[in-house]
Amino acid sequence: MNIQAFKQYLELLKLSGIQDIYFKNNLLKEIEPNQKNNSKISRITPNNIKNLKEKYSNCSKCKLSTSRNHFVYGNGNPNADMMLIGEGPGADEDKTGNVFVGKAGQLLTKMLKAINIERDEVYISNIIKCRPPGNRNPHNDEVEACLPYLLEQIEIISPKLILLLGRVAAISLFHIDQTLKNYRQKPLYFQGIKTYITYHPSALLRNPHWKKPAWVDLQKVRDDYKGLTKET
Ligand code: URA
Repeated sequence: MNIQAFKQYLELLKLSGIQDIYFKNNLLKEIEPNQKNNSKISRITPNNIKNLKEKYSNCSKCKLSTSRNHFVYGNGNPNADMMLIGEGPGADEDKTGNVFVGKAGQLLTKMLKAINIERDEVYISNIIKCRPPGNRNPHNDEVEACLPYLLEQIEIISPKLILLLGRVAAISLFHIDQTLKNYRQKPLYFQGIKTYITYHPSALLRNPHWKKPAWVDLQKVRDDYKGLTKET
């Protein structure tokens, strides 16, 4: 990202209410010369992303904060090469504060296992961090309010591959306007990161006949993921 684009990104975060910003060390190197006196900039490594979970846990940027039990930030390996992004917490996630722990989560764990990926090898998050009442789809203003958290997670984790689970995730990041099946297995690029879209595990529970195409998607993801080598 060049400095100009980076400044715009900072503005976006500021407008959405984020006041403290954390950077990976390599990013900080690029901007540090212009930012020497900015005391708000602090260093964060992927390994202490947990501090952010704590820090944002009382978020009240949208109306979902009034009905949620937990702000469900994300779980997994902060140094992951692959990040999975779902829609938002359901009842089980709201109860526990962890992503994908209910029925859909159990299926997701099995789907990953089927392609030889352990769940704690990847990082898993959602478009929105608080449960919408009755599991309704998130409203646009809720997605907008919450998106900076996800953008920051992506920035910190810097995955080499992203897998979007379901239509809400795909629409929120790519504003897709056709049916999800038109986007499967064709990589898109989100902020330069190779991104695949597949069915949400909840959709697979509702429509088991989608499991076959989902398996085809997963094999593609597996091949790309296994071909990755961590940069040093
Ligand atoms: N569905 C999601 O999209 N995310 C979760 O964390 C759980 C269910």
